[in-house]
Amino acid sequence: MKYTTDDVHNRVKKILYGLTGITLADNKDIMISNRIDKLKRDSKYKGDIMDLLHLVEEGSYVTEFINSFTTNKTHFFREDFHFLDLKNRAIPQLAKSGNKINMYCSASSTGEEPYSMAMTLLEVQDEIGKKLNASVIATDIDTNVLQYAANGVYRYSKSSKEFPEWIKPSKYFKRRIEKNLAGEEILIKVKDELKKMLTFQVMNLNDNTYPFSKNQFDIVFCRNVLIYFSAEDQNKILKKLFSHLKIGGTLYLGHSENPQDLVNYVKRVGQNIFIKEKEAF
Ligand SMILES: C[S@@+](CC[C@H](N)C(=O)[O-])C[C@H]1O[C@@H](n2cnc3c(N)ncnc32)[C@H](O)[C@@H]1O
Repeated sequence: MKYTTDDVHNRVKKILYGLTGITLADNKDIMISNRIDKLKRDSKYKGDIMDLLHLVEEGSYVTEFINSFTTNKTHFFREDFHFLDLKNRAIPQLAKSGNKINMYCSASSTGEEPYSMAMTLLEVQDEIGKKLNASVIATDIDTNVLQYAANGVYRYSKSSKEFPEWIKPSKYFKRRIEKNLAGEEILIKVKDELKKMLTFQVMNLNDNTYPFSKNQFDIVFCRNVLIYFSAEDQNKILKKLFSHLKIGGTLYLGHSENPQDLVNYVKRVGQNIFIKEKEAF
């Protein structure tokens, strides 16, 4: 049977939207082709791509399909002004109540973001000299990145400047030098004190409901993921996330994201930093 590249790409887009809500723009042809190659490699499927896509529609190779089409770019302390706000305003305020501090990272990718949240909390703990009861739940739709995050081993380059000057990586990571064909590489492994604050679980932001209780979280990070959704779907996701945020809690969005319909229910306190003022719906 004859089909064009457009036919394949359109089918991919339709399946991806149905499974994840991710909307791929029309100028993403090269990316889609590369991701199809990844899907073929990861699924080890040797037959025709249209047959493979048919199998995905029928419920096979769904994980491989989703994992191939997510974009997982992230790094420690990305958009570091959010972590400064956590350190200087949000966490110290929450610490005063003595209650458990519940943090949620809703698209955690390979873990750098939720580990950065947890490191920030531990820094405040040291600064105020008071033990804080806190946890970070980290979710993502991609099972490969969650596995990577739970493993907690990262490549470290001194020149990458990923860590702000107020974080000493040796406090939170064990260092290991690994020799490989490319020479020597420094690997850092998350220490147990940090790791035990986090729980990683698979979750699709496109699901109708989320496995959390109403007003469960004091802090919600939803950064650099809404950009993959249509405006209508961004609104749906934000409303669901918002229902799990406490009044007075803080929502952090990525640099090109905004609170959409929630704008009248939040107070902006910094660059893409919003405090929930009242229930929205
Ligand atoms: C570009 S990364 C952003 C990571 C991190 N939040 C940051 O800002 O550095 C986007 C992440 O969103 C995840 N993602 C995409 N669609 C999702 C969905 N429907 N549900 C949950 N996670 C999703 C991807 O797997 C990916 O790891």
